[in-house]
Amino acid sequence: MPATTSSCSWPPAWTWLLLNFFLFLPKIPSSHVPPIVPTCRDKCGNLTIKYPFGSDFGCGHPDFARYIKCTSGELRFSSGTGIYSVSSIDYTTATLVLTDLFMSTCSSMQNSGSFRLDRGNPFTLSSQDTFILLGCSRTSPVFDPNEDLCDTGSGLHLCRGMYSCEGVTGIGLEPNAPVSSCCVYQPVIDFGSGYWLDLPKLQCSSYVSMYGFGGDETDPMKWQFGISLEYNNSYYTDTCKSCEASGGFCGFAGLTQSFSCICRGGGNSTTNCFGRGYAWSGTWRHKIQTKISFGGILLLWVVLLL
Ligand SMILES: *[C@@H]1O[C@H](CO)[C@@H](O)[C@H](O)[C@H]1NC(C)=O
Ligand SMILES: *[C@@H]1O[C@H](CO)[C@@H](O)[C@H](O)[C@H]1NC(C)=O
Ligand SMILES: *[C@@H]1O[C@H](CO)[C@@H](O)[C@H](O)[C@H]1NC(C)=O
Repeated sequence: MPATTSSCSWPPAWTWLLLNFFLFLPKIPSSHVPPIVPTCRDKCGNLTIKYPFGSDFGCGHPDFARYIKCTSGELRFSSGTGIYSVSSIDYTTATLVLTDLFMSTCSSMQNSGSFRLDRGNPFTLSSQDTFILLGCSRTSPVFDPNEDLCDTGSGLHLCRGMYSCEGVTGIGLEPNAPVSSCCVYQPVIDFGSGYWLDLPKLQCSSYVSMYGFGGDETDPMKWQFGISLEYNNSYYTDTCKSCEASGGFCGFAGLTQSFSCICRGGGNSTTNCFGRGYAWSGTWRHKIQTKISFGGILLLWVVLLL
């Protein structure tokens, strides 16, 4: 009789074990090794990242990925003259603002490097940018009377404003020094031809770039310092819009850098993320869990029947 009792008691023990096994199993698929497909994020540090920019390699448009990268939570723009941090992006006006650490502002002036925008890239200077050259030598080509490169009219009040800043001592001048070594630079620029502020050639020690007065033209501490760039906003295609509508990120893949829609749950597609089971609701994991639990109950039945 004891033998019968024990043989009668084994199915419940097995059932319990099996149930546990299948209850814990569903956690395995969610921790499997992800496929080697780029992942894209909505943010880089504090900045919202949208097409044509990308947070990671393979995200955004390849023409932009060459110049803009997210490194250690900072969006950086590289040009022939250096790497600048992107402090803001306005997607409605297709403009972004760069900060050059060596550029002068009212609070801090120092010797700057040059600034160059290569020709043929998808960026151009915004029309509201004003470049002010500081500490230029008397023999500087900007003062060539035949060239007319400096705004000597209304530009003079910008020079006076900058030379009234305490930071001016950083370039070896006294506050309110004569503005004869300052130039509000306005060379003729052809659209798409690039831009090069070559300080050694211009014989100036520093430059200031500003894109607005911050509401007060008389207070240079409030002026908006930075280099504002416009970007070519005609990269959006219907394929990319459809990819975004399915919760994916527009990106690129392969040697030809062809369009690739990168899905949030993982994986990529040449079109969009619809019907791939892992659009953004995240329900795909539940589906797998249900399938496995269902399979488990079936197996349990088979075992019990045996
Ligand atoms: C994010 O923004 C906050 C507040 O504007 C600022 O204090 C912080 O330094 C920023 N962080 C980065 C990584 O830019
Ligand atoms: C902007 O980009 C589009 C698409 O790549 C290109 O056809 C067009 O020539 C570009 N426009 C300018 C002004 O560079
Ligand atoms: C998906 O990404 C991989 C890795 O980047 C790439 O090799 C592949 O071509 C991509 N496939 C599609 C359909 O974009």
